[in-house]
Amino acid sequence: MGDDKGHAILEAQSVEECLIEQRWGDYTPQDHATWQTLYNRQVGALKGHVCDEYLDGLRRLHLGPDTVPDYEKLNRHLRAATGWEVLPVPGLIASKPFFTMLSNRQFPAGTFIRKPEQLDYLEEPDIFHDVFGHIPLLSHPDYASYMQEYGKAGLKALDHKGIKFLARLNWYTIEFGLIRNNGEVRAYGAGIMSSFGETKYLINDPSSNWLQFDVDRVLRTGYYIDDLQATYFTIDSFEALFKECIERPFLPLYEKFRAMPTLSPFELYPEDRILRRGTGEYWREFPKTKTKLK
Ligand SMILES: [Fe+2]
Repeated sequence: MGDDKGHAILEAQSVEECLIEQRWGDYTPQDHATWQTLYNRQVGALKGHVCDEYLDGLRRLHLGPDTVPDYEKLNRHLRAATGWEVLPVPGLIASKPFFTMLSNRQFPAGTFIRKPEQLDYLEEPDIFHDVFGHIPLLSHPDYASYMQEYGKAGLKALDHKGIKFLARLNWYTIEFGLIRNNGEVRAYGAGIMSSFGETKYLINDPSSNWLQFDVDRVLRTGYYIDDLQATYFTIDSFEALFKECIERPFLPLYEKFRAMPTLSPFELYPEDRILRRGTGEYWREFPKTKTKLK
């Protein structure tokens, strides 16, 4: 899903103006081979480190490695599961139609797939990120409700200067969230699912902090869009995430937090519940400035 990095690409303000056709028949054998390569590589890398709800979603939606997914077929399974559907769009879209779609249980997804030479890094989300990353969990009832509420919150935030804070919530849950699963910490965020580099880093590199999720902390914590995460936040369940967010009135928080300093993804604070204290090793090697902090 898009964060705020390219929402201005399209000026369209209505959902209808954003929609395109997928034209599944136009994918080339190379496109299907790219999907297969990415799919198999990620399923292998994530083994034992991805939450059960995600794997259940892959199975339930019949999302397999063989071909680029056909949205018409995918939607039959997705609608039956939770009433969500995928709508094809040209790329990142403006905030208003984006949040409108989510609030109606419609997920805007790109149709293009990266080129073989772009397997490891892509500026804009492609169909592998959007579908492999985001769609399986939309078959889970609590995650599906959370995503819809996120869309509704987005529409309200547009009128209350709250987008910056909601983008952080998106970043630290939907894109890079961790979840407790049978006593272990596993991944569920789409930015992890669709990235070989982030997956390897999360699993093998001790640099990052893993903290217990806290709504206020997340809304106040900045992030970098172009590097691996210094801190990840762990939820107890999708039900708990949904409840914690729905019970917190966001509008007064936006006003309150605007007057407070942005928290750093590199720092630990006294109230943090630390599940894993990172070594910070990676950041000593690749120091970041605060200039591009979102
Ligand atoms: Fe995404």
